[in-house]
Amino acid sequence: MSAKVAKRRTPASKRSKKKRTTAKSESYAYLVAQLRSLLNGEYDFIANTANFSSLVYNSLPDVNWAGFYLLQDHELVLGPFQGKPACVRIPLGKGVCGFAAKQCETVIVPNVNEFPGHIACDPASKSEIVIPLFDGERVLGVLDVDSTSLGRFDDQDAEGLNEMVTILVAHEEGLDE
Ligand code: SME
Repeated sequence: MSAKVAKRRTPASKRSKKKRTTAKSESYAYLVAQLRSLLNGEYDFIANTANFSSLVYNSLPDVNWAGFYLLQDHELVLGPFQGKPACVRIPLGKGVCGFAAKQCETVIVPNVNEFPGHIACDPASKSEIVIPLFDGERVLGVLDVDSTSLGRFDDQDAEGLNEMVTILVAHEEGLDE
């Protein structure tokens, strides 16, 4: 089993690829600014992860589920999310979320049907990105974002979402004061 990096469609021209790349990084810069504003002065983990999920779900195009699974005794337990009801407990190492948490790495799955052991909470989901949350070396849980489109997520999504979860965790730990 190996984590795959999403393949981008062949661009019509280098210029349009550059435009898309810039647009995506600008949209993550805007999301980061919105996140900082939502977190400002609030340290409740449930409130902040709930608003984080809503921000991602409602701001990123083509996303049908966004939320957190939090590690408790070798199991990921469903946390705040937006989207359809989802499976509550995922053993460490199982599914895309369990794999990302166990390997301590971001996983991009362009086609969930090709990922062995993928857990289909919503059969409409076709691609997925899972980002671990770290407290130093320790994994606290994961952020999971799903899409009904194949190959929806790429390295820029990984970079942008990693920046966002890093801000969230640093804020909760009071490291951004
Ligand atoms: N597909 C995930 C399970 C969580 S849901 O998609 C919300 C997985 O394979 O870990």
